[in-house]
Amino acid sequence: MSDLSPEQQLAKMQREWDQRALENARFFVNTAQTEWTDEEFFRTGECTVAEQILTDMINICQGRDPRKMRVLEIGCGAGRVTRALAGIFGEVYAVDISGEMVRQARGALARLPNVHIEQNNGQDLSVLGNLRVDFAFSTIVFQHIPSKAVIESYIRDVHRMLRRGGLFKFQVQGDPTFERDPDDTWLGAGFSDEEAVELALRTGFDPRYRHGAGTQDFWLWFFRRSLARQRAVLKWRHFKRRLAERRARLAAAIASQTASSAGRDNHSG
Ligand SMILES: C[S@@+](CC[C@H](N)C(=O)[O-])C[C@H]1O[C@@H](n2cnc3c(N)ncnc32)[C@H](O)[C@@H]1O
Repeated sequence: MSDLSPEQQLAKMQREWDQRALENARFFVNTAQTEWTDEEFFRTGECTVAEQILTDMINICQGRDPRKMRVLEIGCGAGRVTRALAGIFGEVYAVDISGEMVRQARGALARLPNVHIEQNNGQDLSVLGNLRVDFAFSTIVFQHIPSKAVIESYIRDVHRMLRRGGLFKFQVQGDPTFERDPDDTWLGAGFSDEEAVELALRTGFDPRYRHGAGTQDFWLWFFRRSLARQRAVLKWRHFKRRLAERRARLAAAIASQTASSAGRDNHSG
């Protein structure tokens, strides 16, 4: 259990990520090296996009022309992946909790007119107003967030902004068992496969594919459900809950009847 209020936890996240960004932003974004040239650093972003986006264009674009798509990136850091996204999609909107990361990302990507980077409050996308997006993406961000409530708040807000049927592809820590400080902003909260499915159902998504459960690289494909489908899922879950309650009541009634008739048998014997 955290000793901090949600506000204190957000403030700690922002403070610590600003400190990391001031100390060595690129290292804390990608710890494979302490020093990065521009070329090396942004090449790793191209690799991430080659692995996670270019191999998956059917799910991401769903027949749309990527140059006509608007995409969202949560936790853009120093713009490593943002730059690669901007080479593929029409418009990229990116947010990050750290003002210093945002400053550095804006500086590095200033020449890309289709990139818009904002500092956000660390828990939702209200800074982007009523923007609508066709695809949302996040990598190496939720694995650092200590609060599951904050992660859920982001997922709910992506649901608000994403077009129906659209994909939110993101990575979380997939090992929920390791010991960690509940306010640690480096080792964040982990999700089991079951928790990930529950999370999707609660927030209006279909958790169609999942990869890497039990590892740090647990990738989730959450497709935004249509209203009719979401209603049907909620109805079905309600029906299943009622059925389980009825079964439990019936089992309890049978058990108490068996116990009382056993008592009568003993008495008469
Ligand atoms: C390891 S870096 C990864 C940056 C980028 N996703 C990449 O792969 O290059 C993690 C980033 O997540 C940001 N971050 C951490 N907690 C956040 C939160 N609650 N909301 C938004 N951004 C957050 C940090 O400021 C940092 O820039």
